[in-house]
Amino acid sequence: MTSLELRQINKSYGAYHALRGIDLAVEEGEFIVMVGPSGCGKSTLLKTIAGLEGITSGQILIDGRDVSREEPGDRGIAMVFQSYALYPHMTVAENMGFGLRMAKRPKAEIDAAVERAARILRITDQLEKRPKQLSGGQRQRVAIGRAITRSPDVFLFDEPLSNLDAALRTQMRVELSSLHAELGATMVYVTHDQVEAMTMASRIVVLNQGVIEQVGSPLELYRNPDNLFVAGFLGAPRMNFLSVTVDEVSGRAARVSAPGLAPVTVELSHPGPLQKGMTVTLGVRPENISVVTDGAAGALSGVIRLVEHLGRETILYVDAGDLRTVASESGTGNITVQLSYVAPFKHDQSVTLKLDPAELYLFAPDGGRTISARKAIIDK
Ligand SMILES: Nc1ncnc2c1ncn2[C@@H]1O[C@H](COP(=O)(O)OP(=O)(O)OP(=O)(O)O)[C@@H](O)[C@H]1O
Ligand SMILES: [Mg+2]
Repeated sequence: MTSLELRQINKSYGAYHALRGIDLAVEEGEFIVMVGPSGCGKSTLLKTIAGLEGITSGQILIDGRDVSREEPGDRGIAMVFQSYALYPHMTVAENMGFGLRMAKRPKAEIDAAVERAARILRITDQLEKRPKQLSGGQRQRVAIGRAITRSPDVFLFDEPLSNLDAALRTQMRVELSSLHAELGATMVYVTHDQVEAMTMASRIVVLNQGVIEQVGSPLELYRNPDNLFVAGFLGAPRMNFLSVTVDEVSGRAARVSAPGLAPVTVELSHPGPLQKGMTVTLGVRPENISVVTDGAAGALSGVIRLVEHLGRETILYVDAGDLRTVASESGTGNITVQLSYVAPFKHDQSVTLKLDPAELYLFAPDGGRTISARKAIIDK
């Protein structure tokens, strides 16, 4: 059953068009994660769903009911913010029961809801404390508890874990996933964290400048991005983008090359727009480049400018001379390589690299639509 439906949502702040024709249907019990660059409209979208911001046009439906003009308190939604915004003078129990008290529910019902939420979040022994006596993770749990007590149809989370340290974030991430499994509730979750997006989402929504670029399961988006924006947004370190020339198109394959890059053939999904001599963008993820000893198809050579030893993996930033990269994100080198082993490479060392021909992406020049063949999602 569809739990939340957004139909052609537009939101303008004066002349600024912050959300542009957002369409999204969320099934009951789904965990939707929204990602996108800063300022793309993620918080605005959550606030319009919650009713904290009005929409300029469109419709918001919850369980099939049009709530577009309803007050926030009537929509059956609870929102958890990055700043927990707990009332400092109230105890944990009072903070968690606040929404129900405002709704004038009977005391027995409030007590039962608070007790249940505290049990789920394992803060039963903290109920009489005040927020300042709690750790950051415990405070965030109280904020989530305040949402749970209201038994909403839809939970909205706006970067709820971004104030926590790395270890606590990981712990809370796992707890939120189990909470979702336990409650079976519909959740919409905004984050800047790649790992949270990949691990928590049933589907990820990629927003860019107020428009949805793509919606799909984490692996679908990672393996089969619709366009260059999505390809570059998911994955850290980011996909490498090289400017290449089309040497030949035959059937469903195109051979491309560039000064400094040995010709390589890429399988295509729709060869339509490609022609010999055209400049297109070749994409390859850092984990799909290896260090080799001899040149072959898809080989290039360069000089290592920086080595990062992360223990179980090694990241190389390689300067490949003439090779032109598109929108390179670091100023160091122009090719990023991620090796899943501890590699004895050194700064200023020359290396030959090979791009895995089965893992190459090709993006059309106009708008960066993906034109390479779809990738298998389950690895062979
Ligand atoms: N009340 C407002 N008045 C005018 N413009 C606003 C208002 N609120 C947000 N905006 C603009 O709308 C755009 C989207 O803002 P929003 O807060 O939704 O971004 P975001 O995706 O949540 O970013 P971040 O990742 O930094 O939190 C921004 O350009 C912002 O400046
Ligand atoms: Mg925001």
